[in-house]
Amino acid sequence: MNQVIDNSIMMEKAQRLVRGIATLPTIPEISLRVSTLLESPSVDLQKVADLILSDQVLTARVVKIVNSPLFRPLHEITSLRHAVVYLGSRRINEIVLSCSLIKALESNDDEFDIRKFWRHSFGVGIVAGKMAKLLSYPHGEKIYIFGILHNIGKVFLWSHLRHEWTKIIRLVREKQCSFLDAEMRIMGTTHCEIGLCLARQWNFPEEYCDVIAYHHFPANSPRNQLPVALINLADIFYTVAEGEEGVECWTSSKLTEEPSWAILLHAMPALADFDPERFAFELEDEMLEIRKVVDDLFAP
Ligand SMILES: [Fe+2]
Repeated sequence: MNQVIDNSIMMEKAQRLVRGIATLPTIPEISLRVSTLLESPSVDLQKVADLILSDQVLTARVVKIVNSPLFRPLHEITSLRHAVVYLGSRRINEIVLSCSLIKALESNDDEFDIRKFWRHSFGVGIVAGKMAKLLSYPHGEKIYIFGILHNIGKVFLWSHLRHEWTKIIRLVREKQCSFLDAEMRIMGTTHCEIGLCLARQWNFPEEYCDVIAYHHFPANSPRNQLPVALINLADIFYTVAEGEEGVECWTSSKLTEEPSWAILLHAMPALADFDPERFAFELEDEMLEIRKVVDDLFAP
């Protein structure tokens, strides 16, 4: 895709598409109430747990996520209160938000495998989190959630802009072009700008907005280039690792050519020792676990 395309025109088109939706998905009430409770410095975590417990689906998902490779506790966590204490107020807030959005954007449709979508998002979260650890990135805990939410515009396209979604998918299949190219040809904008409109509507913090808006072109991000570049690299890495070619196709040279590599290398010289093939090999088991976590999350 031509990166020189005027971003303001793309944003305008995205805003028009999003504004055209009569009832935009909202952040579910429970997530907002959890956030409000957690804002208090003297927060009572039991109250937070009780609130989450009032929603069975949400409770089950939070407990599944806390036991997943994303957080990997030493012992299985079976109670929600334990999960809340283990994760701490900030993480529990982000997980409740992620689970609430998964729920808000759910739809029964056989045409699109929503599990595949979330598997990818969780997978990118795991890859980015592991990379962050390897590189001693200072705010690693947030990186998981960036991974989970980076493609929120795409799931919105599927759930609320079905006409455009269907045309994009058809074009990708017929012309064998990338999803981004197809989005540009059909809508003149992409899931990144659409996701940004939603993130702003939902008052997401600035870092979230930048990751959602620039995860395909991190060099264009005016701020927060490190987390954006980390998600970009993890996205590319996971896309190849989950693809048909498998992990063998990884060669260091491919990754080092990415603009995100240069951005990260500049700030974190440890990246120079990063071995993508070895990393991919170490990830294989976790990828299988992620598949199971996501399938469990969506189990009836
Ligand atoms: Fe994307």
